[in-house]
Amino acid sequence: MSPAATVQADASPAILIEGLRFRWRLDRPWVLDVPGFQLAMGERWLLAGPSGSGKSTLLALIAGIQRAREGRVAVLGHELTTLSGAARDRLRADRLGVIFQMFNLLPYLSVLENVLLPCQFSAARRNRAQAMAGSATTEARRLLAQLGLDAPGLERRPAAELSVGQQQRVAAARALIGQPELIIADEPTSALDADRRLDFVTLLQRECANAGAALLFVSHDRTLAEFFDRVVELPAINRIPMLG
Ligand SMILES: Nc1ncnc2c1ncn2[C@@H]1O[C@H](COP(=O)(O)OP(=O)(O)O)[C@@H](O)[C@H]1O
Ligand SMILES: [Mg+2]
Repeated sequence: MSPAATVQADASPAILIEGLRFRWRLDRPWVLDVPGFQLAMGERWLLAGPSGSGKSTLLALIAGIQRAREGRVAVLGHELTTLSGAARDRLRADRLGVIFQMFNLLPYLSVLENVLLPCQFSAARRNRAQAMAGSATTEARRLLAQLGLDAPGLERRPAAELSVGQQQRVAAARALIGQPELIIADEPTSALDADRRLDFVTLLQRECANAGAALLFVSHDRTLAEFFDRVVELPAINRIPMLG
């Protein structure tokens, strides 16, 4: 790779959005109208905004679960608007960690099996986890311990038996395994009390920093602002100002 190409690859932001408009159906109003923003590699942003302002919709577009027909959504240097569905799925499996609002753990699988799921879907994630710790299982255990989930026998329990706070940390370990470059989290703290919320955000921040991952964290809780590089508001009129 030439030096210029290296510079170009390194310069790709984690997320680049330009002129994005989205509506769920042609006969429905626009739910997103975002002139543009860039989230740099390694940066950590809090995305706030009232209920219904389109935060989850925006995350679905960034995760490549939905596709925009107007404007540009580029993630880690890939134009999602022109990638096939299969290629978007591949990019998400290999390079994104997603923490959903309801966690989406598989209830009958054990804690450890849930954390290892991304390594089942992505050889790249499995290889990076192996390179980190010797085996994906060892890396899963390291992440669980970092997140305070190393009580004896806990890793073998079905996810459904855990408390909400524990399930949330399992979801975080699952998002983080295999060093994805971008973590997106959709109100993962909404079910927690204030103390646990702070603990969780601190843990997630530390793990993202360790992995060099960028973080886009959705929450309506502005008291978390101090933990982030920037707070971006998605107002009811759905306009994010153009940011550098
Ligand atoms: N799957 C869907 N199908 C149709 N409309 C949807 C869907 N998901 C969300 N919406 C609509 O899009 C708008 C934005 O919703 P959402 O992105 O969930 O906002 P937020 O996460 O900020 O609360 C709302 O009007 C909501 O009803
Ligand atoms: Mg939402």
